[in-house]
Amino acid sequence: MIDEKELAGLSYPEAPKMITDSVPGPKTQAYLQDSFENESMARGGGRFPLVFAEGKGATIKDPDGNIYIDITAGVAVNSVGRCHPRVVEAMKAQMDNLMHASDISNVRRTELAKKIADVMPGGLKNNCITYFTQGGSGAVETAIKFIRSITGRTQMAAYHGAYHGVWCGGNSLTTGDQYRRGYGPFIPGVIHLPYPYCYRCPFGMEYPSCDLQCAKYVDYVLNTPYTGADDVGAVFVEAEQGEGGYVAPPPEYFKIVKQACEKHGALYVSDEVQSGAGRTGKMWCIEHTGVEPDMITWGKGMGGDIPMAGLTIRKDLAEKIEDNSQPNTFAGNAALAVACMTNIEILTENDRALINRASELGEEIKSHLLKGAQDTRIIGDVRGRGLMIGIEMVKDKATREPLGKEDMEKLIIGVLGRGMVMVPCGRFGNVFRFMPPLVLTREHAMKAADIFLETAKMI
Ligand SMILES: Cc1ncc(COP(=O)(O)O)c(C=O)c1O
Repeated sequence: MIDEKELAGLSYPEAPKMITDSVPGPKTQAYLQDSFENESMARGGGRFPLVFAEGKGATIKDPDGNIYIDITAGVAVNSVGRCHPRVVEAMKAQMDNLMHASDISNVRRTELAKKIADVMPGGLKNNCITYFTQGGSGAVETAIKFIRSITGRTQMAAYHGAYHGVWCGGNSLTTGDQYRRGYGPFIPGVIHLPYPYCYRCPFGMEYPSCDLQCAKYVDYVLNTPYTGADDVGAVFVEAEQGEGGYVAPPPEYFKIVKQACEKHGALYVSDEVQSGAGRTGKMWCIEHTGVEPDMITWGKGMGGDIPMAGLTIRKDLAEKIEDNSQPNTFAGNAALAVACMTNIEILTENDRALINRASELGEEIKSHLLKGAQDTRIIGDVRGRGLMIGIEMVKDKATREPLGKEDMEKLIIGVLGRGMVMVPCGRFGNVFRFMPPLVLTREHAMKAADIFLETAKMI
C-alpha cells in the first residue's frame, strides 16, 4: 500500500500557488529572453513559456516563485518525482567513491545490469544483456546497428507517428515532419506501417468489426517481395505510441504482429523509452499485450532525474554481437547507475505498489476526465493506460477535426496560468498528455484534472 501522506511530503504541498497575475511572470520572462538568445530552439520545448527554477516530487517552481502541479513528469521521465530524497541520498554517497569509469565495468553498472535483467518482462527476464547509453536516441541507434549484424538483414520497419529519437538511424524510423523536413536523406531500407490509431483509423474501419486488418497488413508487408520479404531485420513497436499522440491500440494487435515477425524472421523491438518504468501501470507497456519482445529500448523514467538509458537484448541474440564494436565513453557512470537502481527499487518495492497505484489512479483520472468532457465542446477522446493518458482535442466531436494551433496555445497558457503544466503531442499537435510523476497525490491529480476541464470550457 502506498501512503498518500508520504507521497504528499515529496512535493510542494501548497501547489498550485500563483504569485504573478499572469504567466510568464517578469523574472521568468527575463530568463526566457536569455534562453531564446543563447540556446538552440531546435530543442524539444521550443519556445515553451516556462522556466524551471526548482522541482520537488510532482511540483515545479518557476523563477517568480509560482508553483505548478507537474503533469509532464519531464516528458515521462520523473516517474518517482523530481529530486526524490532517496535518489539524491544514494547519488551523494556514490559521488564520494566513484563516478566515471569510462566504458570499462564498474561495480555499480554491473549491479544495475543484473537489476534490469530481473525486472525485464517475459522472454528477457534474467535472460538478457544490457548495453548502456545516455538517452533513448542512443539506445535506438545501437539497436539498429546490432540488428543488422545479428540478422544480416538491412531493412527496418516502424510506424506512422513513431518517435524513436532524432539521431540518424532513429530519425529514419521517426516520422514527425518537424524532425525530418530538410534533414534527409535518412538511412535506406525503412518501411513505415500504419499505426493502429482507432480514433483516426488509417483504413477508415472500426474496432472490433475491423477484425484488426491493420495487424494482418503487417504480416503482408513482411512477406511481400515488393517491400520486405526476407530482408526486414526488425519491427520497432511502441505498445502505446508516445509522440504520435498517446495512442493505445487493442492489445491483440501486438500478438498478430509478433506472430508475423516470428513467421518472417524479423525481431520485435519494444521501444519503451516513453512507456516504460511503470508509467502505464505495468513495469513495461508490452506486459499489457502478452507479447515477449526480442529487445527493449528504455530510458526516460528509468533514469528519472539523470540521463540513463539502454538497450536490453535476449542473450542468444546478444552473443552474436562482436566485442568492442560499439564503444560509448560515458556509458554506465557509477553515480548515475546508483540513481537508476534506486528508481527501480522505489518503483518495484512492495510488490510494485507504486506501479499498481499508477494503474488505479490512471483509471480514476480517465473516468473523471471522460465525465467532465461531456460538458466541453472540444474533448474528443480520452485514452491510454495507467498514467500515460492522452486527451485528444477537436474542433467538433462529430467530425473529429483537430483543434487548431492557436486554441491549443490558449489552452497551454490557460492551464499554466492556473498552476498546472501540460504539454501536447500527436500528428496534429492536438493531444494533451496527462503523464504526471507516479508520486502525484490523488488530491493533486484531481485538482489538475479539474483545472484542465475548467480551462477547456473556455473554448
Ligand atoms: C519512444 C521513444 N523512443 C526514443 C526516444 C528518444 O529518447 P531521448 O530523447 O532520450 O533521446 C523517445 C523520446 O521521447 C521516445 O519517446
